[in-house]
This record gives sequence, structure tokens and C-alpha cells, in this order.
Amino acid sequence: MAQKKWTISLIILLVLFLYVFFHFITVTKQLEKTVAKLQHEQKMMSHFPHVILISQEFDNPYWRKIEQGAKEAGKQYDVNIEYIGPLRTSIEEQVKLLEKAIASRVDGIIVQNLKDEAFTPLIDKAISRNIPVITIDADAPKSRRIAYVGTNNFEAGRLLGQEVASRVEGKQEIGIMIGTDTSENQRLRLQGFLSVITEYPRLKVVSVASSNISRIQASIQAEQMLRKHPNISVMVGTSALDAIGIRMAIKNLHREDIQIFGFDDVEETMEAIKEGDIVATVVQKPYDMGYSAVKLMADHLSGKQIDKEHFTATGVIDYQNIQQGRNK
Ligand code: BGC
Repeated sequence: MAQKKWTISLIILLVLFLYVFFHFITVTKQLEKTVAKLQHEQKMMSHFPHVILISQEFDNPYWRKIEQGAKEAGKQYDVNIEYIGPLRTSIEEQVKLLEKAIASRVDGIIVQNLKDEAFTPLIDKAISRNIPVITIDADAPKSRRIAYVGTNNFEAGRLLGQEVASRVEGKQEIGIMIGTDTSENQRLRLQGFLSVITEYPRLKVVSVASSNISRIQASIQAEQMLRKHPNISVMVGTSALDAIGIRMAIKNLHREDIQIFGFDDVEETMEAIKEGDIVATVVQKPYDMGYSAVKLMADHLSGKQIDKEHFTATGVIDYQNIQQGRNK
């Protein structure tokens, strides 16, 4: 009887051992396969052109969408995308990143123009070293960049102006928050906006301030503006986090009577529109910008001719079309 028990125990142990052994062999084989696949992918990637995408601010939700589009196109067109950018927007840091990219002889650079005097000479330096540069989001038209991909910013500014003019009634004083006072896109948006507003004598712009693309700064600047110009009844923001900052200021000052118009469709702006705190926002297509810039770079690197200007779409989102799940 005791011997039978032993035999059964031994059989069970043997079965268990065999199970563990075969499981170990299978897992090892799978691991070997995965490692081989990764090594193969890495080897392939190292043959792909290395393109650097420099953002204005690394973790800004708007730039993360550009990164997503760029990386998706990178997969499609065999381009190795390296996404970099300062933690907080800084022209000096961005210039350093651009200089470093040129020095390390990358195969292509995608960058925006935050200030003509700083960026145009560097873009030209890259081109003279045979490194193609595509400007994204904010153009450097005086440089030798091979192409610009992004919004037609003057027209987008006009669109914002038309939205304000058609949605507010009677006499209104307007305060404007721009992202930066040196970048090409903000300059053009402001010009476009003003070109519409000046057609309406009942609408008057009384102050313009800059947020340095920070929602906190937008809030501080908006508060100061409203204290100085208490008759402001409409506020507009021309970069992605401005309207959210303005909203914070308005809540602090209990000035919920003010109508806010913004730019872009970051999550908080969409929430604020749903809650009725922001009237409308002009939306850009950051994902498409990233995608198209990389596709065009791939085309250029493979010897194809590319056009110099590629405008991505814009639209308007308000309470009504959020409910209907579409934008104008
Ligand atoms: C602008 C970008 C800017 C971003 C900041 C966007 O509206 O097009 O230039 O970096 O806002 O949040």
C-alpha cells in the first residue's frame, strides 16, 4: 500500500517536472524570438533616415498631437523620428537644440520659427550643410527652409475675428492674449484677427498681452488686464492654453459675464465649452501637421519635388457642434 502511494507521488512529481520543463522551453523560445525581432527592427531603424522634430514645449498637449502624427508617418514611411523640446518654452533652449541637431548631422529637421532673427540664420546654416529643414506650426518664410506645414495663420486669425463679430452683439471692448510676441504664427493670427475687428466700429481692442504659452501666465496676465480695463467684455486667446488661463482669471475675479473665445481643442477647452464657459474655439490639425511634415520629409529625402507651402485645415468648435459631434 505504502509502495503504491510512493509510486503515485513519483508519477505526479514527474508529470509536474515535465510540465514545468516544457513550459520553460516554450517561454525561452518565445523570448528568443522577441529579442531577435527587436534586434531586427533596431537594425532596420538604424538604416532609416534620422529626423529630429523640435517642439516648443515637450509635454504641451498640442505638441504631443504633432508628435503622434509624426511618429505614425515615421512608421509608414520608414523614418526614424526623434521628438525633443524644452520642458518650458524658451527660445534660447530651442536654439541650442537646433544647433545640436545641425552639429550631429541628422538627416532632417522639423522645427517652428519662434523668432525670425534667431531661427532664420540657423535654418539657413542647416540647409548649407545639406540638412533639409521643414518648418511646422510657425513658418520662417525668409529662410531657405524646404517647406512649411501648418495652419494658414492669417486666415485662422480672421476666422477667430469673424466668430467674435458674429456671436457678440452691440458695443464690446476686447482683450487679447497671444502665445508669444515674437513667433510668426501668433503675429499673423493677431493681424488676421485685427483685420476683421477693424471692420466693426462697435468692437474695440483695448489691450494685448502675451502668455508665453503658459496657462498660469495667461491667467495672471488676464487678471492684470481686467483690473486695468474693467470694461472688457470679450477675451480671446490665440494659443492652445490661453483661453483656459483666461477662464481661471475670470473665475477668480467673478467676472463670468465675459465671453471667451480660444484656439485649439485641448481637453480642458472642450470641457469648458461643454460647461458654457468658453463660447467657441478655432481648431487646428496638429496631428495632420506632424504626419504631413514627416511624409514630405520622406518624399524629399527620396528625391521627390515637394511644394513649399502645405496648409492644414482649421475649423470652429462651439457648444452646439460638440453636442452633435462635429466641427464647422
Ligand atoms: C500654437 C503653437 C503653440 C501652442 C501652445 C498653438 O495654438 O499653434 O505654436 O506652441 O498653441 O500651447
